[in-house]
Amino acid sequence: MRKWFIVYCIVTVPLASYFIYLHPWWSLSLILLLPSWLVGLYDLTQTRHTIKKNYPLFGRLRYVMEELRPKVYQYFVESDTDGTPINRINRSVVYQRAKRVLRTKPFGTQVDVYEPGYEWINHSMYPLSDHEVPLENLRVEIGSKHCQQKYNASILNISAMSYGSLSGNAVEALNRGASLGGFAQNTGEGSISDYHLKHGGHIIWQIGTGYFGARDHDGNFSDELFSKNAKRESVKMIEIKLSQGAKPGHGGILPAKKNTPEIARIRGVKPYTAVISPPGHTEFNNSEGLIKFIQRLRDLSGGKPIGIKLCFGKLHEFEDLCIKMKEMDNYPDYIVVDGGEGGTGAAPLEFSDSLGTPMTEGLVLVSNLLNKYGLKDQIKLIVSGKIITGFHIVRALSLGADACYSARAMMLALGCIQALICNTNKCPAGIATQDKSLSWGLDVQNKGTRINNFHQETVHSVREILGSAGVDHPSKLSRADIFRRVSPTKVKSLEEIYPHQRTALTN
Ligand SMILES: Cc1cc2nc3c(=O)[nH]c(=O)nc-3n(C[C@H](O)[C@H](O)[C@H](O)COP(=O)(O)O)c2cc1C
Repeated sequence: MRKWFIVYCIVTVPLASYFIYLHPWWSLSLILLLPSWLVGLYDLTQTRHTIKKNYPLFGRLRYVMEELRPKVYQYFVESDTDGTPINRINRSVVYQRAKRVLRTKPFGTQVDVYEPGYEWINHSMYPLSDHEVPLENLRVEIGSKHCQQKYNASILNISAMSYGSLSGNAVEALNRGASLGGFAQNTGEGSISDYHLKHGGHIIWQIGTGYFGARDHDGNFSDELFSKNAKRESVKMIEIKLSQGAKPGHGGILPAKKNTPEIARIRGVKPYTAVISPPGHTEFNNSEGLIKFIQRLRDLSGGKPIGIKLCFGKLHEFEDLCIKMKEMDNYPDYIVVDGGEGGTGAAPLEFSDSLGTPMTEGLVLVSNLLNKYGLKDQIKLIVSGKIITGFHIVRALSLGADACYSARAMMLALGCIQALICNTNKCPAGIATQDKSLSWGLDVQNKGTRINNFHQETVHSVREILGSAGVDHPSKLSRADIFRRVSPTKVKSLEEIYPHQRTALTN
């Protein structure tokens, strides 16, 4: 209570005066004491924090502890199997693969295989060796019959993260990795920056509701600007973002302070003004409009693959889109299903925690509906949501995906320590920040190599898992190959849990 501060002052003020009277050298003690008295007095008189007012000076310890709590937890308390959103086992595997250290782990699994929720794939008595699972089988051709420039994509690519939410060095290192490994980097909705172009890595250009890089000064979509960027050599595909798992239905906000002249130039907006992207698109507001917009972008880009990204929301809206696609005989070349568990640079808590269908259910429903309407042979399915290991990819492919995106595992490969402060501009690893003094430490050459290593090792793991399961191509995987423990004594295959006929969330 307040009395402790009063006691502190009653003791320290006369003591300090007495010692200074004995020897002037003791005045040095005022360097510590004076600020503590002033801080205590300030706490006593301020009106914002009750704790500080009731416990002047000493109440501040609470805030120090709060600041230290996540760090102490991560370094001293967290076990290998906990830690959120990505547990220590998965973080470590990314670090090890990125650095190409240790391909194996000792002494057996730390995962409780009798715990409900545990999943695995069964191996074959007649496994295949690496050369029997050709690497080209781990690439996917994306492009419907309306597409003139099909893209041969890797089964693992870098998910959307904008320059703005990531530093220039981070974007550049990702691009270098993509270039070394022959896979693609998604620009995120912040448009194509110089950092995306430096190393010649393949780019998937994402367009959100702000139409950055394809808008006039009033924010309207510009055919001319779009076409100019879309026709760039390194742009291999274009993606219309409808929603993102971490904040579905929420438009992005670029604060005036972060809207530097460089970012303003890239995004085609006025510098130092707040840019608010609307939650929805202004170019279309129904399924027919969306399909026409897709074809318009296809024509303007010279026939490149056009995809849409969504977190699965209202089922009847997606089914309506399928019916329209069938009717108009036109479709996106690919659909990205992002899970509600997906990451973001910044989102309101309720949107991250309580909006949008999780990845597994979203993927199953989209895959089932596309099959129901006979559209799957034209549209490729990409999935994102905590895809970190080879098993995660195999599981997604078994459920109906053709390829995967990864955002946070790529950040970990860049050296992210999961400090969970992406929204403060203070990322200690120099990744999610615009502070040049922090991004300065991120070495593009070294981290670019790590991105390539992580990609290569993860794809290698997929190849080994396929071989062990006795299949030489992902298309030979099915939901019946993956099993989940649903109780201590019961196991079900994913085919039983998510049958192909299932076209509703609740049956
Ligand atoms: C820092 C950061 C920035 C992101 N920016 C975008 C974005 O601009 N557009 C988008 O569609 N998704 C964005 N996302 C979401 C990711 O692309 C991805 O869909 C999601 O994080 C799920 O993948 P993950 O679990 O591998 O991270 C962002 C995610 C992160 C972590």
